[in-house]
Amino acid sequence: MKLVQTINALRAELEPLRKEGKTIGLVPTMGALHAGHASLVKRAVAENDVVVVSDFVNPTQFNDKNDLLKYPRTLDADCKLLEACGAAYVFAPSVEEIYPEPDTRTFSYPPLDTVMEGKYRPGHFNGVCQIVSKLFLIVEPTRAYFGEKDFQQLAIVREMVRKYPFDLQIVGCPIVREDDGLALSSRNARLDSVQRRQAVQISKALFTSVDYGKTHVLSETKRFVEDSIGRAEGLRLEYFEIVDGNTLQPVHAWDESDYIVGCITVFCGDVRLIDNIKYKYK
Ligand code: PAJ
Repeated sequence: MKLVQTINALRAELEPLRKEGKTIGLVPTMGALHAGHASLVKRAVAENDVVVVSDFVNPTQFNDKNDLLKYPRTLDADCKLLEACGAAYVFAPSVEEIYPEPDTRTFSYPPLDTVMEGKYRPGHFNGVCQIVSKLFLIVEPTRAYFGEKDFQQLAIVREMVRKYPFDLQIVGCPIVREDDGLALSSRNARLDSVQRRQAVQISKALFTSVDYGKTHVLSETKRFVEDSIGRAEGLRLEYFEIVDGNTLQPVHAWDESDYIVGCITVFCGDVRLIDNIKYKYK
């Protein structure tokens, strides 16, 4: 595995491979890698000749300066994990390499990016699209892998690929969870042991609500989750929305769509955690 830090060096590596007709898988990450990221990388390794993993904490997607400053950075450990997963290249550029001048491009995909994270983290998805589009232009991957953990991000990236248009396939990968249900996240490293125990109530509320939803109408199920989090010690609900999995717009009855997902964001102390659950899918 090679660690590459400049755009030119990465292009020089990939160009001959592309000429040989090799398929290239890209896994964009912000590092602090865990088994969730590893699942994407392993899938990419299984489906492509060569896999590039980007490891870059993208400043333009952080609307909260403190969150950016506190974001964990563990490049050495990341490289070990990626080597074990079979990645060929780790692309870990500096901020100056990616943004030699401010990126003034704007990406707007209403109504996908105006709800939920888009509403609570203004500018976040614009920053995500800035970095992901640059990575697509640099790597020119055959396929790019994204986790369903960031459900709204996956939907917006798909829309960007469709509208841009980029000639590549987006592969969505299932959420990897801890044994007790907590969705793996780089931010979990910031939870102390008490908060870690409290955080499990998020996935617990979601899982329980799937059964609850079988015998209750949608609005009651929504309230069930809101109340569960409201009662849980140490947690503060930012939002819980039950939405159409394609349009991300709220649905009001179970028969309104055949693809229904519940998306939640909860603060545990000052750590912002997101998760989601499928109620209905084909
Ligand atoms: P990051 O949070 O590092 O996540 C990188 C990828 O790993 C994303 O596609 C995310 O959905 C996926 N992922 C994270 N936790 C997961 C889990 N528990 N199970 C499955 N997949 C998981 O998302 C980003 O970085 C950035 O926004 C990025 C796309 C890299 C742009 O900067």
